[in-house]
Amino acid sequence: SAIPRFVNELPTPSRIDVGKKSAHTICMGATTQDLLGGGLGLTTPVWGYGPAGQRATYPGPTLVANSHEPARVHWLNRLPFQHLLPVDTTLHWAFADTDHTISDDGVPGVVHLHGGHIDPDSDGHPDAWYTRTGVRGPLFRQTRYTYDNTQEAATLWYHDHALGITRLNVYAGLAGFYLLRDQQERNMLHNRQLPSPRHEVELALQDRMFYPDGRLAYPDQPADAPDWPGGASVQPEFFGQVILVNGKAWPYLSVEPRQYRLRLLNGSNSRFYRLSVDGDWPFPVTQIGTDGGFLLTPQQLDGPLIISPGERVDVVADFRGLRGESFIVTNDAPTPFPDGAPVAAPADEILQIRVDRPRSSAPEPQLPSRLRPEPFDVAAPPARVRQLLLFEGTDEYGRLRPQLGTVDKGALLWSEETTENPVCDTTEVWEVFNTTPDTHPIHLHLVQFQVLGRAPFTATQNPQTGALSDIQVGALQPPDPTEDGPKDTVRMRPGEVTRIKACFDKKGVYVWHCHILEHEDHEMMRNFEVKT
Ligand code: C2O
Ligand code: CU
Repeated sequence: SAIPRFVNELPTPSRIDVGKKSAHTICMGATTQDLLGGGLGLTTPVWGYGPAGQRATYPGPTLVANSHEPARVHWLNRLPFQHLLPVDTTLHWAFADTDHTISDDGVPGVVHLHGGHIDPDSDGHPDAWYTRTGVRGPLFRQTRYTYDNTQEAATLWYHDHALGITRLNVYAGLAGFYLLRDQQERNMLHNRQLPSPRHEVELALQDRMFYPDGRLAYPDQPADAPDWPGGASVQPEFFGQVILVNGKAWPYLSVEPRQYRLRLLNGSNSRFYRLSVDGDWPFPVTQIGTDGGFLLTPQQLDGPLIISPGERVDVVADFRGLRGESFIVTNDAPTPFPDGAPVAAPADEILQIRVDRPRSSAPEPQLPSRLRPEPFDVAAPPARVRQLLLFEGTDEYGRLRPQLGTVDKGALLWSEETTENPVCDTTEVWEVFNTTPDTHPIHLHLVQFQVLGRAPFTATQNPQTGALSDIQVGALQPPDPTEDGPKDTVRMRPGEVTRIKACFDKKGVYVWHCHILEHEDHEMMRNFEVKT
């Protein structure tokens, strides 16, 4: 590609303290940005978020809030009357079975705060979408959302979730960070046990494709399926060759020779990353947090860092003594993960780190031996153990269709009756049997769950329904130490049952789904309803 690498400085998203004012109005809207940089003189139409009266940006502003202090955001849809990208109208999507069109009513949008412990009316359920003209999805309740922030300090993120077009809306740019702070974190900052917010950098990794004129490209091919009628189709996955970090192609990050806190987010549609510097870490990288909070003890990484779509990893990287050096963070995750094609250049390089800034006088932190008072442990005995299913079937056109389901019933569709109905304030164990050949990052709304572990299994599968019988489960392997904290998205590997445990403590309708956005839009998503 003619796109120069490591010539653009990493952009820093602007920050909005949403805890400070009574309410903030933030609009989803269209703008243009220079994503490719490098003196190419190309600009790219994108969508983003911005405070009312200001330009929308991609990524959206980083929202900062405090634990247990509610934040209120009024989300306005100002998306245009034309989609940036090809829409597949054969999916279950916002305007399916309606008379509405994007050209008459605008693009449906709805904001989900990923990882948030949120009342259902503010969760951004995929059927709670709305348009700028006031057309509303069946679960729409309001546009003024309240985040009660009843959870610990965490790297959360917000993104679009409109039914059946999430992959397109997020790809167009609708995503941003939401950093939640708490007293435990303030204490560690005060005791100089964590890098200060001045040395804290959020890094959103996303892969994209471009037309030569700078416009975003997204596949507009028909389906590779015998009965496809023609027109653009969702693809099984999307992998772009251009890597953007915070909305800039292959940027460089300029640092002082000191410790930095890096908040990593995989905001890609389908691409996993296995990050290192050519297979190794020439500087210490210590993981301190998972999706939803701190680990009990810092974990120095002795190998590549794997991050799947939707996951966040909070690390401290130590650049002391490296003045004048530079490093290229590389990626060797196959597509799809873990057994697909080896990653090809240029997507095997992500970001350059240049240790070229003079060291400021701020004192160096020293990580504590414990980052939280107690291990993260969903302790209550489970009221129920569910056996659930990941399945790859085919749809009515013969396209590959990834699905969720239950072990007994087999694969189920988005529109089928809800089968996961936890009783409010009870704990459940979900055992999810992955019968597909790929790893799927499975995400639950509402909760931060504990990963109990994974085990290999064998079973007899009904090839029509996907239902399993004669299940034999092998020895449970504990989660990796880097997953031993609050999680809302977990990699479920092929041929394994992954066990998670969560407490469901708000009543209402939420969703669980694969965070590969092409999967989520094509049926790999189901409601769950927390009941009295
Ligand atoms: Cu990050 Cu339901 O999504
Ligand atoms: Cu998936």
